[in-house]
Amino acid sequence: MRIPVIIDCDPGHDDAIALLLAFASEKLDVKAVTIVAGNQTQEKTLNNALKVLSFAGVNVPVAKGDDKPLMRDLIIAPEVHGDSGLDGPELPESNLKACDMLAIELIAKVVRESDKKITLIPTGALTNIAKFLLCYPELKEKIERISLMGGACFGGNWSPAAEFNILVDPEAADIVFKSGIPITMSGLDVTHKALIYDEDVERIRNVGGKVAVMVAELLDFFAKFHMDMGFKGSPLHDPCAVAWVIDPSILTTKKLHVDIETKGEHTLGATVVDYYDVLKKEKNVDVAFDIDRERFVDMLVEAVKYYN
Ligand code: BDR
Ligand code: CA
Repeated sequence: MRIPVIIDCDPGHDDAIALLLAFASEKLDVKAVTIVAGNQTQEKTLNNALKVLSFAGVNVPVAKGDDKPLMRDLIIAPEVHGDSGLDGPELPESNLKACDMLAIELIAKVVRESDKKITLIPTGALTNIAKFLLCYPELKEKIERISLMGGACFGGNWSPAAEFNILVDPEAADIVFKSGIPITMSGLDVTHKALIYDEDVERIRNVGGKVAVMVAELLDFFAKFHMDMGFKGSPLHDPCAVAWVIDPSILTTKKLHVDIETKGEHTLGATVVDYYDVLKKEKNVDVAFDIDRERFVDMLVEAVKYYN
C-alpha cells in the first residue's frame, strides 16, 4: 500500500527536486501539492511548482496559500534561488492550473476524504500547515506524521541561530511543533550532510531525458551560492524530508524535545533542541542527524530515470 502524502512547498530548487523524488516513488501516493510563500513570493513559488509538474508530466491538485506568514512580513531568498525562485533551466509555461481551493481547504479535503491517515511533507515555512491545524482541529487525528525540512539543532543558515523555513514563520512553526502530531525534522544537521557533488550532478545529467537535464541545471544554479559559501557540494535540504518517508532507514534520528523561539532578539526562529534532555519534557520530534549519502544520491538518480 502506498503512503498517502501531501507536499507543502515553496519551489525553490530543492523543493522542485523533492517533488520529483516524491512523484517518482512507488512507495508514495502524492494526493496534492500546496504552495507556501518563502523562497520567493506566493505567485512565483506557485508558478514554479506548476511549471515543474507540467514539465514532468505530473497532474495533481495544486493549491496556493497565503501571500505572507501568519504574523510577519515575508522574507524571501533570491540569493539562493534567483529572481524567479527557480533560476537556471528555461522551463516552458505550465499547462496546469491551480485549483480553486486555498491550500488549507485542499489539505482539509484530501485529509477528510482519505480512508488512511495522511503524512504531510512541508518543505517551506509552516504557514499553511499551522493554519490548517487552527482551522480544522477535528482533522488533526487523521494526520499520520509530519516529515518536514526545517530547523537545526546546531546553528542556523539565515541567522546564526535560525534556519530559513522556521525563521520565515516562527509562529507557525511554534503551532506545528506544539501540535502533538509526530514530527520528523530534517534540519541543517542532516541536510548539510546531504551534499550533492559535481560528479553526482553529472551522474544525474547522464541519465539523459528532459527531466534529468532540468534537475542537473537546477543543481548547477544551486551550487553557485553554496560554493561561494565554502560548501564542497550543494546541500539538498528538501528531498531529505521526502526520502525519509520513502525509506526511514536513510536518516539517523534521535527523539528529542524541541521548542521554537518566537521572541529572541538574536535567536528568533531557532529550533531549541533539548539535546541533553535538560528539561525532561516530552520528546516531540525525531530530529535527523545523519544520512546515508550514497544511498540518497542513488535514490535521486533512480528517481530521474522514472521520467524517461
Ligand atoms: C530551506 O530554505 C529554502 O531556501 C530551501 O528550499 C529549504 O527548504 C533550507 O534552509
Ligand atoms: Ca523549501
